[in-house]
Amino acid sequence: MAVNRVRTGIDGLDEMLQGGLPENHIVVVMGSFGTGKTTLGLQFIVEGLKHEEPCIFISLEEDKDSITKNASSFGWDLSGAIDKKKLGLFKLEPSDAKTTIVRIKSELPKFIKSFGAKRVVLDSVSLLNMMFTDENERRSNLFNLCQLLRSTGATVLLTAEVKDENPRSSRDGLAEYTADGVLLLQSDESREGGEVQLTVRILKMRRTNHSRRVKPYSITDKGIVVHAGAEIF
Ligand SMILES: Nc1ncnc2c1ncn2[C@@H]1O[C@H](COP(=O)(O)OP(=O)(O)OP(=O)(O)O)[C@@H](O)[C@H]1O
Ligand SMILES: [Mg+2]
Repeated sequence: MAVNRVRTGIDGLDEMLQGGLPENHIVVVMGSFGTGKTTLGLQFIVEGLKHEEPCIFISLEEDKDSITKNASSFGWDLSGAIDKKKLGLFKLEPSDAKTTIVRIKSELPKFIKSFGAKRVVLDSVSLLNMMFTDENERRSNLFNLCQLLRSTGATVLLTAEVKDENPRSSRDGLAEYTADGVLLLQSDESREGGEVQLTVRILKMRRTNHSRRVKPYSITDKGIVVHAGAEIF
């Protein structure tokens, strides 16, 4: 059976994905700081809003105000969609760990369904995982959360930070196993001339074929642009 595709709004990336993210997948976007994880999440939401799809963006990192400002720097107006109840934008406080976890587990799936959200972004799962000190608890919570998210029918993007010593692995080494797909954003500073090259690759995408090539991308004033036609040497 052919899978429905959910376009990310980044043409070059959609090309690498053979049309977009498989519908109802949970995909983790991994990368170190400043590689554009939040931007990619916002762009994914903005693409949904363009098609009148209800969307939810949950941040454990930036305040609502910072997110809307962030988005407007790319020319994306979120406030209109928030007013029309097409976009649910939420900030969860990592300091309030217990309440946050209980709320995420008990209220989020119901809320996603009643909101009719087609796209959900959680930025970042690394901060969510930090709320657990116990490794087993962290693992079972994430597994459980992914099950709950899948049951909503939405297509979900999680962002995750990478380990300093192993930039192909998320900080907890968990999300990439639990998720259906993994996109890796990397910045390579070791190039001649000191110019930083940003690259994206698809490490995993269950139940679908996809490009395994490494492609360069830029963060422009209109968001992320993946140069799918270009090669990395
Ligand atoms: N309006 C803009 N135009 C061009 N580039 C921008 C713009 N806004 C941000 N950037 C670039 O994007 C980078 C930040 O992207 P983003 O916040 O999405 O990264 P991130 O991976 O989420 O980072 P963090 O790990 O800190 O959350 C900035 O460091 C800057 O280089
Ligand atoms: Mg971010």
